[in-house]
Amino acid sequence: APLSAHAAVHVPVESLAVAVERRVAAALGGAEPLLRGSERADFQANGVLPLAKARGLDPAALAAEVAARVGELDAVAHCAVSGPGFLNIDVADRALLENLAARAADPRLGVPTTPEPGVTVVDYSSPNIAKEMHVGHLRTTVIGDALARVFAFTGETVVRRNHLGDWGTSFGMLIEQLFEEEDAPEDIAALDAAYRRARARFDAEPEFAERARLRVVALQAGDERTLAAWRGLVEVSQRHFQEIYAQLGVLLEETDAVGESHYNPMLPQVCAELEAAGIAVESEGALCVFPEGEGDGAPLIVRKGDGGYGYAVTDLAAIRLRAGELGARRLLYLVDARQARHFAQVFATARRAGWLPDGVTARHLPFGMVLGLDGRPFKTRSGETVALQQLLDQATAKAAEIVSAKNPELSGEELAARARQVGMGALKYADLSNNRIKDYVFDPDRMLSLTGDTATYLQYAHARMRSVLRKAGEAGADPAVTPGLPLEPAERALALLLDGFGTAVAAVAETCEPHRLCSYLYALASAFASFWERCPVLKAEHAGVRGNRLLLCGLSARTLELGMDLLGIEAPAQL
Ligand code: ARG
Repeated sequence: APLSAHAAVHVPVESLAVAVERRVAAALGGAEPLLRGSERADFQANGVLPLAKARGLDPAALAAEVAARVGELDAVAHCAVSGPGFLNIDVADRALLENLAARAADPRLGVPTTPEPGVTVVDYSSPNIAKEMHVGHLRTTVIGDALARVFAFTGETVVRRNHLGDWGTSFGMLIEQLFEEEDAPEDIAALDAAYRRARARFDAEPEFAERARLRVVALQAGDERTLAAWRGLVEVSQRHFQEIYAQLGVLLEETDAVGESHYNPMLPQVCAELEAAGIAVESEGALCVFPEGEGDGAPLIVRKGDGGYGYAVTDLAAIRLRAGELGARRLLYLVDARQARHFAQVFATARRAGWLPDGVTARHLPFGMVLGLDGRPFKTRSGETVALQQLLDQATAKAAEIVSAKNPELSGEELAARARQVGMGALKYADLSNNRIKDYVFDPDRMLSLTGDTATYLQYAHARMRSVLRKAGEAGADPAVTPGLPLEPAERALALLLDGFGTAVAAVAETCEPHRLCSYLYALASAFASFWERCPVLKAEHAGVRGNRLLLCGLSARTLELGMDLLGIEAPAQL
């Protein structure tokens, strides 16, 4: 076949760590060794002892044999047996430098794409219309966006789905209220307030409650005036959501919003199919799916006694569409932990119905809560939920202080733009760097610390790298690599980290835990700081050494920038 000149097929740079690991595995006859960084060597591998035991061999002899085979690998400088069957492995400086140069020549920095890409649907953010977004929407929005970015980067076709709560009886109530007030709110705050008034009247005035119920019927029957009012609610709400997403730098667009109303016309068919398959049965007037096997059999109600459809059947219709028409092979749901049971039942039902065939995975990805400084669930002083906008404002204001202290000359607009990048980066990183399932405290002071495990620290490290590269460019320093030169320990440590970027990205895709990429980037920025302290770059005596160090700076900057981008965090060239 003719060799195409275009890089249609991306040839990844093989990670040295992966290559070494594969070699150890081969030398161990296919056993899976564990490769770790170590104090005494670039890598330490185990796996000799269990194999020796299993085969009845002398561990020392087997270790020596494996070490000899691993040592034959070009990239390995030496491999020594340590203690009872551990291997200490050092890679060659030349291999490290060649690896860095190959990564630098690749726009993907050597990170491979997934071998068989498919469609991944990420269901995230998903606020309810007619209400302001609040602190409870922060984590789903931020984590979901990071995962959407990571999967897209691995080569998946990512479909973002904002499953808006835009349908249901409460909107009949709200529309009735707006009609009676002769009001058409223009913004979300007014809508939110009208909603509260409607709720209060619904609870206090039986006549109003009755009219609200009739309004629901009119809405479902497609009454034009009622529908037009409903569209108005959606529009005002969407404008608010998109404003928040724009500030946060979240990818969700209006076209990603496929709310509950979208599935409404499919619900009778979904129920009919479940009933025909014997999966759903009538029970006390409602249509129910009872869990298979014994267990604590509370059923999943797909249609209520009054004929109304609920949240669960809407999710079933969505799965049917996503795995069917959209051809998704992976469905991810960023929804808080309280809905664990809902998703377990919905997934089980969808499997039984054949809407989730083998080979299609569905995962509920729960997350912990955002806590206030007092360590309790975040509330305003009067005990209400905190508006998301307020959290964004707090982080941005704190960031503006930091940015203007560093850059007193920045003008209003530039300052605001930079403060947004820094503030939103900090807020996202504080969320993402925590283990997904754990609660964390929302603390603007801490999340914007220049010295801790924060986005601000990463952004600062990145800006410093860019500044070195700028100066090098101005000075005409040659960034060419000279693979024959030896490396200092701080250079090797940094190079080994850069070699691990693909592994860190793969780990996030595998576990759906963005904090793994955060830890990686923090380790990278810290390794850069040590390198920077010990190894002069522009002042390096030897031009070859200077070139190699500039390569390290350049690749570090690009790796940090790309890694932060995968988390949805911006990396300004200057802080
Ligand atoms: N709107 C829902 C809520 O506020 C979240 C929707 C999550 N996504 C889903 N497909 N159920 O609780």
